[in-house]
Amino acid sequence: MSVITVHTAKGVGQIEFEGNPILIELLAMYGMVLPHSCGCNGVCHACNVLVNGQLMPACQVRLRGDRTIILPESPDFYIP
Ligand code: FES
Repeated sequence: MSVITVHTAKGVGQIEFEGNPILIELLAMYGMVLPHSCGCNGVCHACNVLVNGQLMPACQVRLRGDRTIILPESPDFYIP
């Protein structure tokens, strides 16, 4: 069992998961549907989030272990 800690505009929460899900799909399962203009092909970067402080397209992130995710609408997203 692994956990992502998700920072959103509404606060911080945690999601437990098994295996190696794709981040954008896991977030969508919990109602956090990110823009996905290119159909999750890793081209448009509309789904960009911060993963452990690194800007990445969520559709290209296959989770392995605990991570901290900051969504674009979170005030924490713009902290340098
Ligand atoms: S949906 Fe286009 S890069 Fe993720």
